[in-house]
Amino acid sequence: RLEKVWLLIGIGTLVMFLTIVGISAFAQGHHPPSDLTTLDPQKVDTTEPFNQPGLKKIGDNEYELVIVSQAFAFMPNDIKIPEGAKVHIIVTSKDVVHGLEIVGTNVNMMVTPGHVNSLTHTFHKPGSYLIICNEYCGTGHQMMSTKIEVT
Ligand code: CUA
Repeated sequence: RLEKVWLLIGIGTLVMFLTIVGISAFAQGHHPPSDLTTLDPQKVDTTEPFNQPGLKKIGDNEYELVIVSQAFAFMPNDIKIPEGAKVHIIVTSKDVVHGLEIVGTNVNMMVTPGHVNSLTHTFHKPGSYLIICNEYCGTGHQMMSTKIEVT
């Protein structure tokens, strides 16, 4: 008899727990950060999340920033990030090796075709941050940059 009571309490707790997890997952909306590590450079445009480069909210003040590198540009072009946001940067290349550096931060990533690189950075200070390519990638290398506005 007592076992049944305990069993019911156990099941009740489990149901409650799953409901809470379900609700919070639903409230946060999106999927957890992508855990993709390899990717055919030919398929970047058609593979999630790289088919939609940009900033996506994945939690409370937590974002995924998807960047595609291609000679000689980073996509998307203008990125706006709220101050204090924890950002999971995820990047790949469609052609050759690039380097993604966010000036004034410790973000410095190798961007190799066929691979997905990721790193988490929290933008504590508002301002304008320059993303530059720091790996020679061809004639337009010097022009390869984009900007992040943290507000
Ligand atoms: Cu891309 Cu240098």
